[in-house]
Amino acid sequence: MSQATPSQQAAFVCPSLPEDAFATDVLAGLGRTPKSLPSVWLYDQRGSVLFEEITGLDEYYQTRTETALLGECAAAIADVIGPDAVVVEFGSGSSRKTPLLLDALVTPRAYVPVDIADDFLDGALATLARRCPGIPMLPVRADFTRPFHLPPQLRNTRGPRLGFFPGSTIGNFAPAQAAAFLAHVGKMLGPHRHMVVGVDACQDPAVLLPAYDDARGVTAQFDLNVLVRINRELQGDLPLDAFRHEARFNAGASRIEMHLVAQRAFTATVLGHRFSFAAGESIHTENSYKYGQTEFRALANSAGWDVERVWLDARSRFAVYLLCPATACPPAPLPPAP
Ligand code: AVJ
Repeated sequence: MSQATPSQQAAFVCPSLPEDAFATDVLAGLGRTPKSLPSVWLYDQRGSVLFEEITGLDEYYQTRTETALLGECAAAIADVIGPDAVVVEFGSGSSRKTPLLLDALVTPRAYVPVDIADDFLDGALATLARRCPGIPMLPVRADFTRPFHLPPQLRNTRGPRLGFFPGSTIGNFAPAQAAAFLAHVGKMLGPHRHMVVGVDACQDPAVLLPAYDDARGVTAQFDLNVLVRINRELQGDLPLDAFRHEARFNAGASRIEMHLVAQRAFTATVLGHRFSFAAGESIHTENSYKYGQTEFRALANSAGWDVERVWLDARSRFAVYLLCPATACPPAPLPPAP
């Protein structure tokens, strides 16, 4: 047997993720009006498993639509990127779509999954390393919604770099944050950069709402799990049975919102801090923005990227964009002659 051990390393823990980030975010989020929590905290081990289950739901069309699209466009993407690319995936989760890209690319030089759920990252990476042997795996444990760095081995290396951001995870950012993220990633990836971004499209709320409030209640469990996590990790006593999951479509902002709505009034304690809830008051736990092509192109442009190609499914529900560095800004107009 010549099978080497998978070329896998311990995660590079990005120093920008403070130990107590969860506590800080929860105390601030429950203390403000309206109450809200950053959606990144939905993804502990159980949250990641529940999200995996969501991706297989009938109502959740996004994952199967994007997976089919990636299968169709991977070869064309590989042609544009060329050999020896470093692939950096943001919010890699189960890395289940990654082989579609890694298999198509010519001799990828390394795969860098960036994720906040470290237990989940380890398991997913072990599976991927068996599936794609010979590609060095350099995991980074970081919250990619905050500034973070590539692992030290890759700094000062040359060659093409491909950012991979599938799943419409970009929709979790407000548009201004999405632009800041794309600009930051552009700097991090450097001059020979491309990016593949999966984006959920604008569409009928009758399709969107069930995707975020499925009949089996898996999305409700996923949402409620953040309360379980607060109770467990932050000595909370939030009454789980007093909350109900709700998905709302905010047409003005072009986004789905997830809320945990208190069904009665109560007070609860987290890390010794008291919070009161009115009946009907919600904790806003996630935004999922939807973009038309025009809007997404404008967003990319504002962050130093151009859309090189775009692939859509037959029903225009989901889009896969290949981004390249924006062509140099047009020269500034000459000042008026004196
Ligand atoms: C992982 C952020 C893309 O917004 O569709 C799915 C998360 N939340 N169902 C999405 C999610 C509820 C998902 N993203």
